[in-house]
Amino acid sequence: MPELTRRVRVTDIKAKKLRGEKIAMLTAYDATMARLLERAGIEILLVGDSLGMVVMGEETTIPVTLEAMIHHTRAVTRGARRALVVADMPFLTYQASVADAVRNAGRLLQEGGAAAVKVEGGRPVVEAVRRFVEVGIPVMGHLGLIPQSVHQLGGLKRQAVAGEEAERLLEDAVLLEQAGVFSIVLESIPPELARRVTETVAVPTIGIGAGPYCDGQVLVCYDAFGLFDKFVPPFVKQYANLGAEIVRAAEAYAGDVRAGRFPEPDSKTADEKARTHSHDR
Ligand code: KIV
Repeated sequence: MPELTRRVRVTDIKAKKLRGEKIAMLTAYDATMARLLERAGIEILLVGDSLGMVVMGEETTIPVTLEAMIHHTRAVTRGARRALVVADMPFLTYQASVADAVRNAGRLLQEGGAAAVKVEGGRPVVEAVRRFVEVGIPVMGHLGLIPQSVHQLGGLKRQAVAGEEAERLLEDAVLLEQAGVFSIVLESIPPELARRVTETVAVPTIGIGAGPYCDGQVLVCYDAFGLFDKFVPPFVKQYANLGAEIVRAAEAYAGDVRAGRFPEPDSKTADEKARTHSHDR
């Protein structure tokens, strides 16, 4: 994938659907990862509240706070200069009232530096979405498996399998589009339903566990790179096994330290480098 040559805007993302170009999105939670993913040409970096599970070690995304999201969003926007950074709005920061929702979304832009926010759900969040757009905050929707509702849904399982639920999801997608979202994540729904949504709405759909017919795809980077090993969602493709590589490297390091091989006792070159170079990263 070519390196990004200029800043990606929400208008570029919408234009990609018109041109029939697929969109590649990954999550990122820190500046170093953001820099690497941007170098690989990833157009959208999502500071997902999945950080609660893969970074903070929580069982669900529910404990994630707005402060945590602002903190990690700031880190990602320091690392990424061109990719479109979208920040997840955590549980209960947009559902209680529209005024609160606008203030909280605004903090993700003002303090976190995000260019857009993402909210979960359809009809119940439409009013907030409309208001975000009115005040100039781009919004990404999220339908299907919405992890902040894990207790209501009875677990992290495939959604909208029955006909009635599928029709409701399609209606929700249209409502979100009418409210002004610039794209919609479709998580863990049948591929044929994802195809219908993609053909119905003019804004791009970004799938995760929703088959190949979406306008783009997203994965949690810790899943895609083999870092998170508590469980691997069935739809994940692992593009690397960095977890195993880190264990191997840490064992090698520990072995060297214990055997006195690192640092080398007579390593003049390392000593020389330390005296002549500051290590401003
Ligand atoms: O929080 C997250 O990482 C997400 C993606 C799975 C879409 O919402």
